[in-house]
Amino acid sequence: MNPEMPAPTHVPVLVEETIKALAVRPGGHYIDCTLGGGGHASTILDRSSPGGKLLGIDADPEAIKIARTRLEAYGDSTLLINDNFANLQAICIKYDFFPVHGILFDLGLSSLQLDSHVRGFSFQLDGPLDMRLSPSQEVTAADIINTSSEAELAHLIRTYGEEAHSHQIAHHIVKERPIKTTLQLARTIERAVRGRRGRIHPATKTFQALRIAVNRELEHLESALKQAVNLLGSEGRLIVISYHSLEDRIVKQFMRQESSDCICPPGTPVCVCGHTASLRLVNKRVITPSPIEVQLNPRSRSAKLRAAKRIITRDEYCKTAEKLFFLAGLEAGGWRRPVILKRLQRAFSVA
Ligand SMILES: C[S@@+](CC[C@H](N)C(=O)[O-])C[C@H]1O[C@@H](n2cnc3c(N)ncnc32)[C@H](O)[C@@H]1O
Repeated sequence: MNPEMPAPTHVPVLVEETIKALAVRPGGHYIDCTLGGGGHASTILDRSSPGGKLLGIDADPEAIKIARTRLEAYGDSTLLINDNFANLQAICIKYDFFPVHGILFDLGLSSLQLDSHVRGFSFQLDGPLDMRLSPSQEVTAADIINTSSEAELAHLIRTYGEEAHSHQIAHHIVKERPIKTTLQLARTIERAVRGRRGRIHPATKTFQALRIAVNRELEHLESALKQAVNLLGSEGRLIVISYHSLEDRIVKQFMRQESSDCICPPGTPVCVCGHTASLRLVNKRVITPSPIEVQLNPRSRSAKLRAAKRIITRDEYCKTAEKLFFLAGLEAGGWRRPVILKRLQRAFSVA
């Protein structure tokens, strides 16, 4: 790299809105499930000082490396873990990170990943068709593109990309295989949808679909949201920033369901579901970036922030924690387990 060129960075999105929604306060314990370049994390650490702690998770070892350098000055206040947020509960149990005052998911990819030639996320940069968040994952985008049947590809592109031309695209991909690079795939898609260009680049939705499939993004999000609720103490905040409608739909439905005392189908005469609300919405309406933020950082334009807070009694919280330890196996927590549970009883309220 040219030494005069500034190092690539990721500009965090909706930072002040996130801090407000998380209700960050000195001494609070927060989890950033999508650490990225550490932008949100550093502001959370600044505002939770003195005494604040941050557990930062990212599936991408490169992101952890960059964030570790950026957050070095915060010393023991940070614990950075290279893992998938689908393992959120297990991580908290392993590192005794309870109770939690706030959990943030800033979904999707960082600019560091999008602008990389070797990661394969961008249809504008030539590179291998990889798209894995972590090199430990087995399946790459090239594997999916070159081994799926035409029908499977069409289904994937339609489902995860909401692409209207999924059949034509899948047909061209199969005809032009093997496809090994991002630009080769982008050109194949351009040929498939020739004459039907819309507002966005014709490869946008297919690339989104592949990324979601390679990283099982929706599945991991659904699982992690449930785990996050279990970890939050009373009044603890759950904040999710999403960047496409499939993610946002999952978050919206999850928060709506979890903040409702009845989830019986509409028209059911008497409630039979036995469901009780575990969350209360902090903002009734979704929060989006201001026009100024979008102008300064065009990548923020599709961001949607949703926020909720945990409602739970002390007894329920301790029961949940016991259950988590039980599910994690008898060894979980080790000799510290009784101490951890005792502390939980005292500290269940994070308000
Ligand atoms: C939009 S960036 C986050 C940027 C960050 N908030 C900042 O201020 O720099 C999303 C990050 O989440 C990570 N990520 C996405 N899905 C993940 C998952 N299932 N588990 C762990 N990390 C994930 C990506 O690797 C990426 O670094």
